[in-house]
Amino acid sequence: MVMKMSRKKNIALIGFMGTGKSTVARELSKKLNMKFVEMDKLIEEREGMKITEIFESKGEEYFRSCETEVLEELSNRKNIIISCGGGIVLKSHNREVLKSCSTVFLLRATSETILERVRYSKNRPILSGNMNSTFIYGLMKKREAMYNSSADVIIDTDDKSIHDICRKIQSSLG
Ligand code: S3P
Repeated sequence: MVMKMSRKKNIALIGFMGTGKSTVARELSKKLNMKFVEMDKLIEEREGMKITEIFESKGEEYFRSCETEVLEELSNRKNIIISCGGGIVLKSHNREVLKSCSTVFLLRATSETILERVRYSKNRPILSGNMNSTFIYGLMKKREAMYNSSADVIIDTDDKSIHDICRKIQSSLG
């Protein structure tokens, strides 16, 4: 059964690193003819640094404050697709902002799938030195309740194509 929901201003994609948020957001933006914004890219542009460099030189707390600032700005826009960083749900304030400004889609995958997708990534400081499925599983579990409570719709992506995921999102929108 497909649940239809009333259309909020924006579409937000949340989920752990490597669940396909950016790829899905890009594809969905073509299908729905909506602009797509990637929060991490926006932060990198503003700071003039890659995410890893921001973590190294200014620390995670600074990065998290950039994240909240960008989210608050984006929440004032309409009709955009927001691809969020994997840690956006960590602050309850962010979860509230997300809920109020968008229909929130949570993309999920198993820790094994995630490891396959992010294994060679050099721009994921949270996983640096921890590139294994035990760590990924543990962190996902710690965040699970925050992801679930933020989501309007949950999509398991493991055996789905980008096309399937977009179709599921489109059919959930009212
Ligand atoms: C993070 C996820 C990353 C990025 C930063 C922190 C996290 O985004 O925001 O490295 O804490 O899960 P992606 O989910 O796009 O990799």
